Amino acid sequence: MAEPIRIVVTGAAGQIAYSLLYMIARGEVFGKDQPLILHLLDIPPMVGVLEGVVMELADCALPLLREVVPTTDPLVGFKDVSAAFLVGAMPRKEGMERKDLLSANVKIFKVQGEALDKVAKKDVKVLVVGNPANTNALVCANYAPSIPRENFSAMTRLDQNRAASQIANKLGVSINEVNNIIIWGNHSSTQYPDAAQGKVLVKGEWKSIAEAVNNDAYLQGQFIETVQKRGAAVIGARKMSSAMSAAKAACDHMHDWWNGTAPGKFVSMGVFSDGSYGSPKDVVFSFPVEIKNKQWKIVEGLAISEFGKSKLNITSKELEEEKNEALSVLDSN
Ligand code: NAD
Ligand code: LMR
Repeated sequence: MAEPIRIVVTGAAGQIAYSLLYMIARGEVFGKDQPLILHLLDIPPMVGVLEGVVMELADCALPLLREVVPTTDPLVGFKDVSAAFLVGAMPRKEGMERKDLLSANVKIFKVQGEALDKVAKKDVKVLVVGNPANTNALVCANYAPSIPRENFSAMTRLDQNRAASQIANKLGVSINEVNNIIIWGNHSSTQYPDAAQGKVLVKGEWKSIAEAVNNDAYLQGQFIETVQKRGAAVIGARKMSSAMSAAKAACDHMHDWWNGTAPGKFVSMGVFSDGSYGSPKDVVFSFPVEIKNKQWKIVEGLAISEFGKSKLNITSKELEEEKNEALSVLDSN
């Protein structure tokens, strides 16, 4: 058996973590042969709840879980970690947009960036889930200059999963028969879920989603809007934001980063933009990526329609605005 690796989950007493910790500790992300030491970081008022989570992890009797380190100190939480799931942040309530959380949450990611910089492994893979995820990831990376920027990412995998699920449902196929739908831009209602490059297995044959659905009005209308507004729809129904599906998406994201993507398949991740596809540089932008040896690479050369370009402009503009707002919040502190 391999040596254990240290993994941190922040917001470990919260609702996403409650599903996420179990999935990680079962070996669904880093492999069934990889022993783990789980670091659980939360804030002092949650210490009691965190103790309960530690008890339940013990009671799950999970063979890969070698040790659990509950803490409220970021310097302990991030010490020597190989992967970080940054979940801890305030969730939005009904009627809010995710960027309404910016002033409350962005400061958390400054502190955590600084702590990662000091004590995490330099090749740590950081996944930001807490909203507004793209801009929080940008802030976190900016405060961790000794860790390569490529090691910071924001989660748009939940949007990708939602989009694939809509198409699978529409065509009556299984979810693993839908590939390569892209989420562009921000994890917000300006994101652009794009099925134009997507493929679907119909009666044993891979076809383009556009051909199989054969309804452009749906793909450019209802499909996009359903995915853009899905988080709000879940909040409307549950009165709490998505948790089980968010935890599953976080596992999918880190699993693919750790293990790579299959040939010809790509996934969407919020990563530092190099200006590809006309996006603004130096914001965290969701792109289609292929992953090999734990390194992601933006899939280049995809054809984008005029309709697609107009959608990319909208989400680009929002990310630039969020970045400026985050910088002014941090400047005023
Ligand atoms: P929650 O309120 O149930 O849990 C959040 C936890 O974070 C709490 O235990 C809280 O004490 C803790 N926390 C707050 N500040 C912290 C800090 N500085 N350090 C460590 N822990 C801290 O919320 P949740 O439902 O688990 O959601 C967490 C975040 O994830 C929210 O911002 C939510 O909007 C976001 N989210 C993102 C996606 C996505 O697709 N990117 C999906 C779902 C939820
Ligand atoms: C989601 O997409 O479900 C999360 O980002 C939570 C939210 O506020 O929508």
